[in-house]
Amino acid sequence: MDIRHQAERRRTFAIISHPDAGKTTLTEKLLLYARAIHLAGSVKSRKASRHAVSDWMQMEKERGISVTTSVLQFEHRGKALNLLDTPGHADFSEDTFRTLAAVDTAVMLMDHAKGVEPRTQKLFEVCRLRKLPVVTFMNKLDRHGLDPLELLDQVSRTLDLKMAPVNWPIGKGDEFRGVVDVASREVSLFDAHGHGDQIVVAHRMPLTAAEAALGSSLFDSVWEDLELLEGAGEKYSHDAFLAGELSPVFWGSAMDNFGVEALLDYIVDHAAPPAPRSTQEGQVIAPTDDRFSGFIFKIQANMNPRHRDRIAFMRVVSGHFERGMDVVIGRTGETLRMAKPHSFLAQERSLVEEAWPGDIVGVYDSGKLRVGESLAAGTPTKFAGIPHFAPEYFGKMTLADPMRRKSLDSGLEQLAQEGVIQVLLRPGDTLANAILGAVGLLQFDVLAERLANEYNVRARFETLPYNHARWINGPQSAIDWLKNRSDCVFVTDSHGNPVVLAATEWTFKFALDKNKGLELHTVEPL
Ligand code: G4P
Repeated sequence: MDIRHQAERRRTFAIISHPDAGKTTLTEKLLLYARAIHLAGSVKSRKASRHAVSDWMQMEKERGISVTTSVLQFEHRGKALNLLDTPGHADFSEDTFRTLAAVDTAVMLMDHAKGVEPRTQKLFEVCRLRKLPVVTFMNKLDRHGLDPLELLDQVSRTLDLKMAPVNWPIGKGDEFRGVVDVASREVSLFDAHGHGDQIVVAHRMPLTAAEAALGSSLFDSVWEDLELLEGAGEKYSHDAFLAGELSPVFWGSAMDNFGVEALLDYIVDHAAPPAPRSTQEGQVIAPTDDRFSGFIFKIQANMNPRHRDRIAFMRVVSGHFERGMDVVIGRTGETLRMAKPHSFLAQERSLVEEAWPGDIVGVYDSGKLRVGESLAAGTPTKFAGIPHFAPEYFGKMTLADPMRRKSLDSGLEQLAQEGVIQVLLRPGDTLANAILGAVGLLQFDVLAERLANEYNVRARFETLPYNHARWINGPQSAIDWLKNRSDCVFVTDSHGNPVVLAATEWTFKFALDKNKGLELHTVEPL
């Protein structure tokens, strides 16, 4: 079938938010409205017995958090949607950063009582780095929140992003009555009793006919708000949205199934189609390019304890992917047969016969693939990689049984390739005494648990007294200066890049003052 048609049909997106803003709830409701699931497992019942469809590992179930990124694929109104669910827990933000490399649009979810929270801001910065288009969903309108105009102003100033409301809330908290579409002036009425696990069809009417339903004082204030928006609000521009400069804003209550359908419709109609990608040589590969290409953005072992396997998640960049085809690994030139590619709906996996640009495919990996790897039909291709982010926690593993040293080495190597932790080597270090870095402390718990379960290695974790890492770029004299300091440690990352670790950021400031031409980066240079 025609590649252009298939690529245009795809929309690949992720939801970014601060924990507790309602991401799990919204994800489920999007699936519900797309008829991909029939009954949303409400968050309450998830915590009791059932689990949100996007939760995977045992740890997630026990702790009630999302640890890994899962991929949810579903169809809606003729579009094939790939929703990459991201871990909500702050400690797993590195996984989320990588996921953002594989999507074309991000949905930024906020609690309207809180506005921009730290995690949202950090994730948004990653979107900005990639110039990703961002759609905003203001959640929990059934509760009291900030004044909508002030909220938009706060978000716009904090993130330096234009905010253009697509719809506008009517009333607040207990008095919340629904939303009005800014362009069409159609009102959707909120039904406070409709919340739950089944689709609710909002009652709609033109604003001119809504006086009786809203009451005259609310009715008047909606007109005033719309007038104000027309005069002072940001005008929606689709080009500015696609360029990542302007975010359309939706309001609703994911818990009450309100506003979810409008968001889903917007994603289907307006989210960015699969984007082209650049290779390390600067060549741009368009989705419509005939030759298949893709890259690995995540590797996950042991996703399903019954399967005990290692799956590499690949984003298709161009061409037509078919089951059984041979592809070349860009880094090694080695050929791999794509014998059993999979698609996902949480725990449900099914074999895929084919995939198109924008799709996410799970590939069984025997240990040959790494995060950031490029795969292509025919000649090797190397896409610009996926960067690491500066770890903020450091430690090392000490074996309980020294005879398990080889298993510890292979466990650390593979888990680092998956991105569970970063391995940092001082000159002369071996894997077993390497410094381990993580963006969040919980990553070390996952490491210890997986070393025990998958490699039969019991190791004690000790924290090390560093808090900051920077990738180094600069003249040899600056590198030598850093190597000779006693208040920092010089290491190399898994790609061989030089990195400096320190207990305080003052060390870096001092180093920058003393060394002309020295650059210190919080994101790995590509
Ligand atoms: P997360 O994945 O972003 O961490 O958020 P999650 O969906 O787990 O939701 C976090 C909390 O916010 C949950 O409450 C959930 O019920 C609530 N929530 C989500 N959407 C809405 C909404 O639109 N309105 C209101 N009022 N609450 C919402 P919880 O206290 O953790 O659990 P529960 O006891 O309320 O179920």
